[in-house]
Amino acid sequence: MNKITIAIDGFSSTGKSTVAKQLANHLGYIYVDSGAMYRAVTWYAMQHHFISNTYFHVQDLIAHLDQIDITFTFNPNLGYAEVYLNGKNVEKQIRTLEVSGFVSQVAEISEVRELLVKQQQKMGESKGIVMDGRDIGTVVFPNAELKIFMTASPETRANRRYQELLSKGEQVSYNEVLHNVQERDYIDSNRKDSPLVKAKDAIEIDNSNLSLEEQFNKILQLVETKL
Ligand code: DC
Repeated sequence: MNKITIAIDGFSSTGKSTVAKQLANHLGYIYVDSGAMYRAVTWYAMQHHFISNTYFHVQDLIAHLDQIDITFTFNPNLGYAEVYLNGKNVEKQIRTLEVSGFVSQVAEISEVRELLVKQQQKMGESKGIVMDGRDIGTVVFPNAELKIFMTASPETRANRRYQELLSKGEQVSYNEVLHNVQERDYIDSNRKDSPLVKAKDAIEIDNSNLSLEEQFNKILQLVETKL
């Protein structure tokens, strides 16, 4: 069967990664969470004191980009690939609200985007890939056979993210999470370089009222029309 490229874009916490992982496992495709790569660069910047609540040394981060090695290794126990930064598994560190608070600023830097987009395009050279993010259908894989644009209301998304953080033991309030979701929506949609926009040929799915199974089946039907 011929392999295709599937691009899934959308706002934060629309559940893109959950459905993308399921889809990749079902099809035997590679799954790549491109947001994890921006988060890993952000974690690197925090660890090296290039970014904090009071400063952001953009040029220092840019000067160190060649020191950042991001890889994915499939974890059979989890059923998906985890992200490694310079050989260390940083899956847990990059998912905190603190990283979420800085990541959109890091993702605005053109040098960061250029580097990560090149790496993402390399990962997709042989097709058979599901990648989720903000610019996958517009910039990374403009020729993807299937492009999905996922949406859901900010409140629905904040609630999902809040439950996820609580289950991981993070001490956060719903309002804090909602604020972060709205702030990231704004920055992601208004940045100069590759803002989050729906590709002209993307199919929009609002999953505010869809179960995971309904979403999965809907996307799988679309995939089958492309194979
Ligand atoms: O999908 P996520 O919430 O883990 O992504 C984290 C941030 O990374 C998000 O706020 C915007 C940025 N991002 C991006 O600019 N381009 C991508 N392809 C993926 C994520």
